[in-house]
Amino acid sequence: MQTSQLTSYFANSPKPVGGAVYQAALDRSIDRLRELLPIAGLRNPKIGHPDNRWSFCDGPDWVMGFMPGQLWLAHQLTSDPAFLAAARARRPQFRAVLDDRKARDHDLGFIFSLSSVAEWLSTGDDVARNMGLEAARWLIGRFREEGQYIQAWSPVGPQDRQQARFANGRMIADTIQNLALLHWAHRETGITDFREVAELHEATTLRHLVRPDGTTFHTFLFDPASGEPLRGETHQGFADHSCWARGQAWLIHGFANCHRVTGNPVSLDAALRLAAKAEELMGNSKVPVWDYSLPADGSHPVDSSAAAVTAAGVLMLADHVPEFEARRWRDFGCRLLDGLLDTCDLTGTPGAQGLLAHGAGHVPAGRCDAMLPYGDYYFMEALMRAQGHRDFFW
Ligand code: GLY
Repeated sequence: MQTSQLTSYFANSPKPVGGAVYQAALDRSIDRLRELLPIAGLRNPKIGHPDNRWSFCDGPDWVMGFMPGQLWLAHQLTSDPAFLAAARARRPQFRAVLDDRKARDHDLGFIFSLSSVAEWLSTGDDVARNMGLEAARWLIGRFREEGQYIQAWSPVGPQDRQQARFANGRMIADTIQNLALLHWAHRETGITDFREVAELHEATTLRHLVRPDGTTFHTFLFDPASGEPLRGETHQGFADHSCWARGQAWLIHGFANCHRVTGNPVSLDAALRLAAKAEELMGNSKVPVWDYSLPADGSHPVDSSAAAVTAAGVLMLADHVPEFEARRWRDFGCRLLDGLLDTCDLTGTPGAQGLLAHGAGHVPAGRCDAMLPYGDYYFMEALMRAQGHRDFFW
C-alpha cells in the first residue's frame, strides 16, 4: 500500500474564515457520523423520514457515494480507522454497480469520486484506483458525438414512447458534477479522451443550459438521432422556464471545479455569473427556496441541499479570484452556512441521524422537507472549505 495521495489538508490552507462556530459544527458532524456507524452498518442513506431517521438505499442509487464521501472526509480529519474501515467495507456495493449494466449511468462520477477515488487518494489502494478508472471508462461511453453531451438518464427503446421521449437525447445540469471523475482519470492515465469528453460536455452545458441572464435550465433536449438542439425543460424544477435552485448549485460548484482542474477562464466566468445570480435571487432569505422562480407570494419549501452545494461552490470560487473579489464569495458562502446553522442544523438534535433538515429532494414528486445525504456531504465540504481545507476528492 502506498502512502496517502492527498497533500496535508493544513499545509496548503488559506486562512480560515469560519473560526470556532464552523469548527464546532464540523466536530458535531463527525460525532454524528460516528454514532451512525453501528446503526447504518453497510447501508447508505437515501432520504430522511419525518422523524429524522434515515431510509437507506436498496441497491445501486445515485446517492450511494455520499455516505462513503463523508466517511473519507471524517477519516482525513480524524485519522480514526473506524471511518476508513466503514468506507472500505462498502467496496463490494460499488463493484456491483460496475458489474450491472442498468446501474452504469450518468451519475457514475457522483458515485465513484466519493468512494473509489476518495479511497485511492486517501490510501493509495490500487483496486480502488482501478474501480475509479473503470467507472470513468463507462461514463465516457455515454458521450453523444451528435450534440456533444453525456446522455443523462438511460435511453430506452421505442416500445415505451413516453419514456423514450423523456430520456433519449437529454442532458441535465447535475451531470457537471460527474466531470471531476473524468478529469481525475485523465490526470491518472494521460488518456486524452477523458478530458476531451469532460470539456465538450462542459461547453455544451454552457451553451444550452445556461441562459443569458445567468439562470439555468435543469435539462436540455436534443434530437437523439441528429443531435439538433431542441429546447430547455425541467424535471425537478417548478417549470421549464424556471431556475431550479439545486441545478443552479450543481452548476456553480461544477464550473468552479472545472476551472480549478483545467484553469479555463471560461469555466471561472460561468461559475461567477451563476453565483452572482444565485446571490441576487436569494434576496434576504437565509436558505434558498427550492426553485428561484417561484411566485413571490406564498410560502415555499426551502432546499438545504442547494444551500450546502452553493456554499461549497462559492467557497471554492473564492480561492480562484483576486482577494478583493474573494471576500464577496467567502461572505456569501458563510452567509449560506450561517443560514443552515440557524435554521436546518440537526447536529445538536438528539435522535436525528443526519446533519441537515429541510432538503427538497424532488418537490414535483412530493419529496421535500427531509434530510438528504448529498445535503450532508456538501455541508461537511463547505464547513471544511470555510475552515481552510482545500483538498477534496473531486
Ligand atoms: N441528481 C439529482 C438531484 O439533484 O436531485
